[in-house]
This record gives sequence, structure tokens and C-alpha cells, in this order.
Amino acid sequence: EEAKKIVLKQDPNLPLAIKIKIRQSVASRGKRVKVSGWVHRLRTQGKDMKFIVLRDGSGYLQCLLTGELCHTYDALILSLESTVTIYGVISELPAGKTAPDNHELLADYWEVTHHAPGGDDAFTNKLNADADPSILYEQRHLVIRGETASAVLKARSAIMKAFRDHFDSKGFTEVNPPCMVQTQVEGGSTLFEMNYYGEKAYLTQTSQLYLETCLPSLGDVYCISESYRAEKSHTRRHLSEYSHLEAEMAFITFDDLLDTLEDLICDTIDRVLANETTRKLVYQLHPDFVPPQRPFLRMDYKDAIQYLKDHNIKKENGSFYEFGEDIPEFPERTMTDQINKPIFLCRFPAEIKAFYMKRCAEDNRVTESVDVLIPGVGEVVGGSMRISDMNELLAGYKREGINPTPYYWYTDQRKYGTTEHGGFGLGVERFLAWLLHRDNVKECCLYPRFMGRCLP
Ligand code: 4AD
Repeated sequence: EEAKKIVLKQDPNLPLAIKIKIRQSVASRGKRVKVSGWVHRLRTQGKDMKFIVLRDGSGYLQCLLTGELCHTYDALILSLESTVTIYGVISELPAGKTAPDNHELLADYWEVTHHAPGGDDAFTNKLNADADPSILYEQRHLVIRGETASAVLKARSAIMKAFRDHFDSKGFTEVNPPCMVQTQVEGGSTLFEMNYYGEKAYLTQTSQLYLETCLPSLGDVYCISESYRAEKSHTRRHLSEYSHLEAEMAFITFDDLLDTLEDLICDTIDRVLANETTRKLVYQLHPDFVPPQRPFLRMDYKDAIQYLKDHNIKKENGSFYEFGEDIPEFPERTMTDQINKPIFLCRFPAEIKAFYMKRCAEDNRVTESVDVLIPGVGEVVGGSMRISDMNELLAGYKREGINPTPYYWYTDQRKYGTTEHGGFGLGVERFLAWLLHRDNVKECCLYPRFMGRCLP
């Protein structure tokens, strides 16, 4: 009742407060400022001091309420995640005290915009994952307010920019292919089907075919688009919707393709680490990250089959993998983790790969294809040279049991000026899981989609 009677007033003799974002707080030290945000942390010391760590998405700022400022009713019932505006001056902390950026805003006035609930409905009670870890996906909209989840999303944004800067520096044009399509590319078993005005259509598995059609129009192209796979299992690296970074180039050889890919990965990481803010984020999340060394190990599929034999990595039934068989996730990861550096795994047999892959001149059984394997994560990139000859392409459709009719526009590329060309697709969330040391790709996107979850 006492507290309800206290009404705070701004001292009219103080200088006008400048409105800032928390990221500007180091530069704004010594001036009177006004900062709005969410109560990230809250600590009461005695009856005359309240420490608030304020969060506005651009940073964290410790604010100190003293005396009458913490005797009001608003102060007494203040809870985490409430929205407030605090006025005062930011100054460096004396030695021995710690706070974000080593400074503190000493409040001379503050107001509450909205009180978040306390008690049973309090923010912290919403995120208790001990009972059921799926809570963290159900409450993802609250989880992203956390320090780790928001750092991952900030880093993701910076890394996407680094990818774009890389391609821009190499003269690539960014395009935006459609996500609703009527062709399948990476196998029928993972297609999401949809009703498109009464016609059958799919959510795209890859933008590759569209990128290929851009070569004669725009030259080297890339896109960052969502791809969709109806994966029917729960793993640490599969999503139903993921961000797919794809690029395509004409008049290149398979070696050119591998070099481009190596350059993309290394240069993007260099750019990320060259930026002070992003560098801090990466090392905050992944303290012992070591950038990969060029050149990457290049290994043929047939040598991987031999490696599995030499290292006694077998199928569940005790037999070895033989040439021509798909190497599943487990043995692939075992090998990659043992070798413990990125691998360009090359020249897969045509039968286990997609219809569009070009065969090797020196060995017709295998294709000019590459998977990039990363320790701890597995396959991060898939790419290949594409069939440039029309008849060979028609044979490819046939082998995979694909009706060529809806692919007329793709086939046309082999009619109106064909050439050697190739490209690749990089799974952004898998790349991030590697760089940011996340155990699961689901932590690397805003709202993960996977079997059984399409909410929030
Ligand atoms: O190997 P994939 O299937 O290759 C393609 O789609 C080619 N058409 C790309 C191209 O050449 N333009 O997929 C490429 C990458 C994989 O290496 C993986 O990183 C990622 O996409 N990926 C997934 N990421 C998360 N969840 C899934 N379900 C994924 N499926 C593939």
C-alpha cells in the first residue's frame, strides 16, 4: 500500500535523455540516455538497490535502480521479461565489479511498459526442459530470447551476409527460384506433395534445375532458398524445411567446381572471423573453433569403400560395404570423425546418385560428384557436374523412372547452346551446426520444421 503511493517524476533540471539502442551504449557513456528493453535478469540487493540486466536484441546493459526508484509498486512486482524504459547515465564500472561491456547505467528515472506475469506463469517456469526436452521446441518463441539461442541467430545472420559477400565478390548474381514446383529432383521418397489449383505440385527439394536455366541468362548464379524434404526419421541433421545455399557455373571442369567449393567455405569463414562482432559470437559459441586448412582432403568413393574395409567399419549384419552401395550416415560419420578434417568425397556411382549427374570420362560407372563431409556433422554439401548431352539426359530420366514431359524446360537447356556446367547445394543449418558447435541442426534455424512439428 505504501509503495502504491510513490509516484516517480523526472527531474526537469537533468539534460534531455537521448534515446539509444544498447549496442550504442559504449559510445554513449557519460551522456544522459534513455534505453528500452526487456528485463533479462533481475537481482535485488537490500532494500535500496535493484540490478536489472536489460536486453533489447542489440545487446545487454546492466542498470541500477537505487533508493526511491526501487520502492515503487512497479519495482516491487517487477518480473523477468517485463518491458521497461530506463533513464540515466552509463559509466564504466570500478575494478572488481563485472557487467556486460564492463559498465552500468545508473538510473535517475524509469517506467514500466508492461508487467510480465510472475508466479506459476513466470517466464522461467515455461522453459523447464528436464521433464520433456520437446518443451524447447514447443516454447521456441520464448527460447529464442535466451542468450545462446539469440547468439546463434545473430551469428546466422552474419554468416548469411558473409556468404552473400563472397558470391558478390566473385561476380555471381543472386536469384530467387520458386518453391512450388512440378518436378522432383532428389528422389520421390522425400517429396512434399501439395494441391496446386487441382493439379499435383511439390514443395521444392532443390533450386538446382532453375539455377541451370539462369546460366545462359545471367552467368554464374546462386540462391539462398528454402528446400523441403519429407524426412521420415528424427536425426540431429535432418529438417523438413532447410535453408539451401546453391550455386551453378558454366564452362567449368570438375576440378574448377571443387576449387570453387573450397574457396566458398574458406573465404566465408575468413570473412566471418574478420568481423570483430561476428568473431566474438563464433568464439562465444565455439571456443575452440579451428578454421579448416586448404587444400581439403579429396577422396574418391571407391577409396572410401576401401577405407571402411581397412578400418573394419561394417554393416549391421556384419558384412562390408561393396562398390555400388550407398554409404549410409553412420559409417560415413565414423570415417569422417576418424579422419577428423573436412573431406571432399568424390566420384559416386551413377546408380546411387540423381539422374542429372555427369559420368566421368575415365570411368563410366562413376559420376563427377562430390559430397563435403565435416567431422561431427557429416554431409554439409552435395554437388556435381551436370549431364550436358541431351540423349544422355533422356537416358538419365529413364533410369530413374522419371516422366520427361514436365522437365521440357530443363531438357531445352541441352538444345539451345549446351555446355559443361556444374554446381552444388550447401545445407545452411548443417554448416552452422559445424561453425557454431551446435549438437543439432534444429538449433540453427528460427523455427525448425521436422517430422511431427510445424508449430510455432
Ligand atoms: O545432397 P543434396 O540432396 O543435393 C541437392 O539437392 C543438389 N541438387 C544441390 C545442388 O547441386 N544444387 O542436398 C544438398 C545439401 C546436403 O549436403 C545437406 O547439407 C542439405 O542440403 N540437406 C539437408 N539439410 C537439412 N535437412 C535435410 N533434410 C537436408 N537434406 C539435404
